[in-house]
Amino acid sequence: MMNVERLPIKDEIIQILQQQGIKNLYPPQEEALPRALNGENIVVAVPTAAGKSLVAYLPIIQEAFLHKKKSLYIVPLRALAREKWDDLQAFKKLGIKIGIATGDLDEESSYLAKNDIIVCTSEKADSLLRHQANWLNDIAILVADEIHLINDISRGPTLEVIIARFRAMNPDIQIIALSATIKNAQEISHWLDSVLVESSWRPVPLKEGIYHKNKIYYGVDDVKTVSASSQGKMAPLVIETINDGGQALIFVNTRRATEKIGESLGDDIGSFLRHDKLEKISQTLHQEEGTIVGKKLIGCIKKGVAFHHAGLSEQQRRTVEQSFKEGDIKCIVATPTLAAGVNVPARRVIIRDLWRYASEYGGMSPIPVLEIKQMMGRAGRPGYDKEGEAILIAKNKGEIERLWTQYIIAEVEPIYSKLGSEPALRMHLLALIATHFASHIEELYQFMARTFFVYQSSSLPTEKIQEILHFLEENDFITIDGDYLKATAFGRKTSDLYIDPLSALKLRSALESRIKPTVFSFLHAICTTPDMLCLYLRSTDSHWIMEKAEKEKYLFEDGLYSTLMNEWFLSEIKTASLLEDWIDEVTEDQMVMKYNVGPGDIHNKIETATWLIHAMRELARMFNFEVVSPLDKLLIRIKNGCKEELLNLIQLRDIGRVRSRALYKAGFKTINQLREVDIKALSKIPTIGERVAKSIKEQLGETDGNQNTFL
Ligand SMILES: Nc1ncnc2c1ncn2[C@@H]1O[C@H](COP(=O)(O)OP(=O)(O)OP(=O)(O)O)[C@@H](O)[C@H]1O
Ligand SMILES: [Mg+2]
Repeated sequence: MMNVERLPIKDEIIQILQQQGIKNLYPPQEEALPRALNGENIVVAVPTAAGKSLVAYLPIIQEAFLHKKKSLYIVPLRALAREKWDDLQAFKKLGIKIGIATGDLDEESSYLAKNDIIVCTSEKADSLLRHQANWLNDIAILVADEIHLINDISRGPTLEVIIARFRAMNPDIQIIALSATIKNAQEISHWLDSVLVESSWRPVPLKEGIYHKNKIYYGVDDVKTVSASSQGKMAPLVIETINDGGQALIFVNTRRATEKIGESLGDDIGSFLRHDKLEKISQTLHQEEGTIVGKKLIGCIKKGVAFHHAGLSEQQRRTVEQSFKEGDIKCIVATPTLAAGVNVPARRVIIRDLWRYASEYGGMSPIPVLEIKQMMGRAGRPGYDKEGEAILIAKNKGEIERLWTQYIIAEVEPIYSKLGSEPALRMHLLALIATHFASHIEELYQFMARTFFVYQSSSLPTEKIQEILHFLEENDFITIDGDYLKATAFGRKTSDLYIDPLSALKLRSALESRIKPTVFSFLHAICTTPDMLCLYLRSTDSHWIMEKAEKEKYLFEDGLYSTLMNEWFLSEIKTASLLEDWIDEVTEDQMVMKYNVGPGDIHNKIETATWLIHAMRELARMFNFEVVSPLDKLLIRIKNGCKEELLNLIQLRDIGRVRSRALYKAGFKTINQLREVDIKALSKIPTIGERVAKSIKEQLGETDGNQNTFL
């Protein structure tokens, strides 16, 4: 093994590596790093945990340190952005500035310019390009982590467009692409004119097996019995791991399943863990206003188990990840969102579900081997365990062999570009034109020729492109003059807002319709866009939804009611009702019952709705100025889930819908009225307490000094 001291990098960098316990390079790093440090484009397609990040870290650190060159490090998920940013902090003492960009997609970003290295998600990078941030021209190294996600229908196209754009902007840019083991890494590397490093080497051995009825099958002659210490299906596997001093990570396919299994496992393992630490962790989570999901999570954590899914708040997720890393939480039950790239001390990964719901097919479809291998790869991470284990659960005896051939010894799939899909092309072609990247049809073709899509299909989809340009022209997003293309103000706005052009059309027509807008009509309008995934209908739903629709007069004025009384329409009304309940302060528990959804789903709808109401308000500035102000109010209400009467109080920090309602009930209806009460009385109001009371008074400028921070 090669010592890090032999790398052509500055001593200061080597010292930091050594302090982190990195003394020798792993074989794939030994092969890749000299090339990467030499400025060559490189694709590193090696197994999980093989230390790919370092192949990117060292060149970007070295270039920042020696030449003040800038790099952009692109990852698929916010959690991963955070992890990379944390890793890079170690190099801050060299005077290197490291930024992270995960915020809203159309916010100002010039503050990022001062950084040498910026970590962000691919959507964020795309939106930075759309806003034409000047400093992007200075990016010398582009890192694309988890580049195999080009295969992903929803985020893949964005990733390949970003790469193609940066290469077009700066032909000398260095691309460092990190990939899971895939079948056609060669193709990716040809596309990027890069060196390819492939390997099957893994620093920590990973044992793969299949579990059925208290037996783990690691191979024909390698079967192990797990003592049946508990009734639960997976509990024996988890208990064994914990007894051995390890931790377990379980993957299931729905959020609800993570919660259910988390709760039942807690009952199985909770009795033999240290509880003082767990109590402390749950205390930190108590500070967030109580929701069902929050309470459930706290209940689980007290028993040493946590669940993890996209419906948790940022803080909840981070607490779970952190406490698992520190070894206090012994088991996490997660959806596959935790499968990509993260470093966690899971000695044993258990995968229960091999199928999941796929909206594009409207049914269940098998999870690709590539993704299963990614989940498996969370086990056995360097620095945490000497060996890892990944176990699939067989439903019956017959399944054991099938799982063996289909997943354990199976070859991973090749990846395919998804940029040919119509929504993707619609969105990205408009963005290219709106940002003056392509102002002539030939430029558009030239750009497309640089994408992985065209590389892979080896032909330019000219007809499809023409069709989409025609659609964009017909709907006033662009003008076409001969072969010259130009975005209209509407087209530019749509691209900036980062919404599907079809969504922009829907919002525009709602804004331009003659009917008198109501809060519900705004909510309904955003639910008609393809950016909002509407709730499913149950047979018991149609009745109350029709009743609801009948109460909304504007639907009749517009003739919508009679023509659109179909399933689509009903599910739009259902989703809009959920949003309306949210801003009418219906409790989360009630909404869970009424709509038969998980709290996570509610949060997702609210997040999307916030984004779309923001977009609608921006478009209103162009198409119906009168509703800008009502949409402003609605935006604050949807962000916070409160009635209009709380709009004043809700502006205070630390005050959400629950606390502002409590203040209101106690007779404080405006911020001004809060000046009249002393801190002691304030802290007695339910849900307020000393900490929040103090914070309120500070914001009013009433404690130390007399600086008024809130006007
Ligand atoms: N040469 C080394 N010596 C010791 N530890 C190392 C070395 N290189 C990397 N590591 C450690 O190995 C762990 C895994 O590295 P990393 O996250 O880069 O893996 P990866 O290849 O990106 O895996 P994944 O495919 O799961 O994303 C990290 O904790 C890292 O600090
Ligand atoms: Mg990685």
